[in-house]
Amino acid sequence: MAMTREEAAKRLVVALDTTHRGEAERLVQVLRGVVGVFKVGLEAFTSLGPSFVQWLVEQGEKVFLDLKLHDIPHTVERAAYACARLGVAMFNVHAAGGGEMMAAARVGAEAGTPPGHETPLVLAVTVLTSLDEKALQELHLPGSAGQRVRHWAQLAQKAGLSGVVCSAQELAFLRVDFPPPFVLLTPGIRPAGSAVGDQRRVATPAHAVRQGADFLVVGRPITQAPDPRAAAEAVLAEMAQAC
Ligand code: C5P
Repeated sequence: MAMTREEAAKRLVVALDTTHRGEAERLVQVLRGVVGVFKVGLEAFTSLGPSFVQWLVEQGEKVFLDLKLHDIPHTVERAAYACARLGVAMFNVHAAGGGEMMAAARVGAEAGTPPGHETPLVLAVTVLTSLDEKALQELHLPGSAGQRVRHWAQLAQKAGLSGVVCSAQELAFLRVDFPPPFVLLTPGIRPAGSAVGDQRRVATPAHAVRQGADFLVVGRPITQAPDPRAAAEAVLAEMAQAC
């Protein structure tokens, strides 16, 4: 079934990876209406702080707070509460923190959701896409990356989380085992012909949509483009054609 441009826009997440508030605000003004969700990660959050997230929410934008929480369950519950208080649409934790920690994140998210807001989606980061089989061996983590991703996604689902962050490589098998509404959010998206940069396991927007991704995270191919709005429109067109 074909996806409309509007449906594609709701599923496009743009990473605001910058330390400059002026630059972040300029990108938001330029991309307003063509991007469903703005992602604030560690770089932007540690430089611009919660007030930038509040500003985005006040602008009526949906925010993915990509802080990858990983700590003892009580601390993660309190941090999840604080994430939800900001009115974000989604945030994430590391599955490696364990089932109890993930369940605590869910509890914190529900308790912190302001009246009139939906409880944010809480996503689990499974195996970082920067870790290959060699790095897993170095960490003494048994099994392949795929086996670990599947197992940790099961743990996340059991803990009541909304979905996982995964690479395009894992989409196909995860989609089979975890049908919607379990959310699959995929970074490392590179439109055909764009620079890969430091990403390893990349996929085009069309491929990621076909493999079952619910949300696509795109950073530099849009934010560093000479015309970021036109670059976002091109990604939407590719997503819409994919179905
Ligand atoms: O610029 P680029 O499209 O590579 O940006 C991807 C974004 O997704 C970055 O903010 C990066 O931190 C994030 N991310 C990722 N891989 C993960 C999790 C998050 O690239 N496994």
